Amino acid sequence: MASLEGVADQQSQTGSNVVVLRGSAHPQLAESLAEALGASLGRSRCERFPDGEIQVDVDPHSVDGRDVLLVQPTSAPASDHLLELLLLADACRRAGARSISAVIPYFGYARQDRRKRLGEPLAVRVVAQLLSAARFERIVSVDLHSDVTEAVLDVPMEKVSAVPLLARALAERGARWARCAVIVAPDLGAVKLAREYSRLLSLPTAVVHKVRTSGTDVTPELVAGDVRGRRPIIIDDMISTGGTILSASRAVQREGCEGEVVVAATHAVLVPGALERLREGGVRELLVTDTLAPPPADTWTTVVPVAPLLADAVRRIYRTR
Ligand code: R5P
Repeated sequence: MASLEGVADQQSQTGSNVVVLRGSAHPQLAESLAEALGASLGRSRCERFPDGEIQVDVDPHSVDGRDVLLVQPTSAPASDHLLELLLLADACRRAGARSISAVIPYFGYARQDRRKRLGEPLAVRVVAQLLSAARFERIVSVDLHSDVTEAVLDVPMEKVSAVPLLARALAERGARWARCAVIVAPDLGAVKLAREYSRLLSLPTAVVHKVRTSGTDVTPELVAGDVRGRRPIIIDDMISTGGTILSASRAVQREGCEGEVVVAATHAVLVPGALERLREGGVRELLVTDTLAPPPADTWTTVVPVAPLLADAVRRIYRTR
């Protein structure tokens, strides 16, 4: 876990009572959010004791009497980042914060939202119980994997979607795709998302029926929808190993898709080897957001910033409380 160097408190440009604090998972996003809000950045430090325990502290003057926003995607290592967030919340409460909300743009464990067999935990509920115990006033999150997360969480959520931002970024490439593309849901779980992209871009939808054979391998069974002669834009909420996208890409190409494969997803989880897998699998363009520390933008990857989206959500919270 990275240690955070404290930076001098900036004067709030808006005179608002909000102070943004960074966990170690994605300090750049916290800084961008503070800037978008015109809010001050508080000082926090996250380190480890020699035995591996996490130790955090916050500058009490930064948070005393303030509405604190803790920014921490629970990305890998998810358990450490989650615990760090809980410790930061406790530190802020004890230092006199007026309210504490969490911005968890990427919500780790959200995929473990059902038990497939007896003997498995309902992991997202366990995580939700931990977060509920921290008594956040609100939790802001982006493109949750499913509605189960909100249902099991005992904290009001402000849910936001990065799909319009990604769709706009896709539309900016529209001259190359106009009327000949198809939005592809790589599995049944992504159908709702695909319909939203289709609506925003006025493009048809196709769905790949996927069967997961292991943590990394996915077998496509059939493709529903007309993909022949069309350029595939495969969308998903997240890309982890790249297995789902790769399998969908092969399936639609087998069905006669034409042109280079473009992929858009909100959460760039991208475990080691995923980018190479996508490249080797024929993906020619990747659009993701920075809900968690993103891969470097290059000619192949476009990173769409979510700080303005999060800032709007935060303003809504403080307007409506
Ligand atoms: C699963 O339901 C999710 O929406 C994603 O499709 C999945 O988590 C992506 O994982 P991977 O990239 O490892 O296939």
